[in-house]
Amino acid sequence: MAIRNIVKYGEDDVLRKRCRSQLKFDERLHQVLDDMAQTMYAAEGVGLAAPQVGILRRFCIVDVGDGLIELINPVLVQSSGKQTGEEGCLSIPGKYAEVTRAMNVTVRAQDRFGKTFEVKASELKARAILHEMDHLDGILYIDRV
Ligand code: CO
Repeated sequence: MAIRNIVKYGEDDVLRKRCRSQLKFDERLHQVLDDMAQTMYAAEGVGLAAPQVGILRRFCIVDVGDGLIELINPVLVQSSGKQTGEEGCLSIPGKYAEVTRAMNVTVRAQDRFGKTFEVKASELKARAILHEMDHLDGILYIDRV
C-alpha cells in the first residue's frame, strides 16, 4: 500500500470532471482502493473519491468510524429528510462550511469484486456518502453552500 497525493482544489481540473464507470474489478482496482484507504486515514478524513487521487472513475470510500465501505459505481436509490452541518473536503484543506443534505440515504453500489449491494445510512454517514458521490460528478461541497 502507498499513500497517494490528494489533488487540491484549483490545482487540477480532474476535480471538475464527470467520472466514467469502473468496468474492471481487478487487482489494479484493489490496489487503488487499498491506497485510497491508507491515504484517507493518514489525512484523517472520513471519505475519499477516485478523482481526488487523479482517477476519473466512479468509485469512492467512506469511513465515519464504523468501518470502511467501498462504493464502486454507486447510485442513489432513495433519500429522505434533511440535515444541515459543517462539511470539509481533503481537497480543500482547512476550510469548512454549512451544507444541507439528505438525512437518510439508500445507495446501491458494487463491491471491489463487482458484486452489487445496498447500503443504508443516515446523519454523518449519509452526508459523507453524498459528498463523495458528488465528487464523481465533479461537484464540490462549496457548490452546495
Ligand atoms: Co471531498
